[in-house]
Amino acid sequence: MWKKLYAWLDERLDFDSFYKGLLDRPEPEGNWWNTLGSASLFLFIMQGLTGIFLTIYYTPSPDHAYDSIQYIMNDVAFGWLIRGIHHWGATLMVIVVFLHMMRTFFYGAYKFPREMTWVTGVLLMLLTLGMGFTGYLLPWNQRAYWATTVGTAIAGSVPFLGDFILQVMRGGSDLSALTLTRFFSAHIWMLPAALAGLIGVHMYLIIRLGISNIPKEDE
Ligand code: HEM
Repeated sequence: MWKKLYAWLDERLDFDSFYKGLLDRPEPEGNWWNTLGSASLFLFIMQGLTGIFLTIYYTPSPDHAYDSIQYIMNDVAFGWLIRGIHHWGATLMVIVVFLHMMRTFFYGAYKFPREMTWVTGVLLMLLTLGMGFTGYLLPWNQRAYWATTVGTAIAGSVPFLGDFILQVMRGGSDLSALTLTRFFSAHIWMLPAALAGLIGVHMYLIIRLGISNIPKEDE
């Protein structure tokens, strides 16, 4: 019965060529350093899933944000676990993506023909940092408030465009309810959408070009 169903679907959706193109490839020669890209992907997916669960109770308004986090931590079943994974996963993702970048750099994997893999990677690193920066404000506690005050002030010190950037980030000259909703929107929609799209391009390039060899002494 299952075989028949599979054959019926395969005739229409062509699973076989999808499987051959995407998964049925020779296993690349490598070592543990080559697993850091997949670890980054795993962490991105885990952050996405735990983040979706957090939005069930989190409220992005100055009156309720702090309390909604307290509620998640103390009253929601396994809320502490989901938030804990999301909180520590964020730090871990920055570390793992950075180590993955270091490994591709030291292996010279950014050279021809993988320049675009590197360029999309640099954008992925920046977006990962952006996720950390925007997420940090959401608990709306003293640390979050003052860290974002300092962070946005640093962005505001850019020559010529600084004031404009600061106003866009804060939604005015001071931190307010607008800043919180802006950071929330960036954290759950804009940056994840950009990350997902770029990861798609990054993965397409990896499948297309294959993994580079471990460099020899004279390369
Ligand atoms: C969310 C972030 C990222 C994800 C999910 C990701 C995912 C991956 C995966 C699964 C691979 C193949 C396995 C491996 O070589 O580890 C890979 C390879 C690669 N990545 Fe990333 N990556 C990310 C960030 C970065 C960054 C920040 C850079 C550099 C600036 C980068 C540059 C590269 C390069 C050059 C390769 C090709 C390696 C080779 O052919 O040997 N990636 N990435």
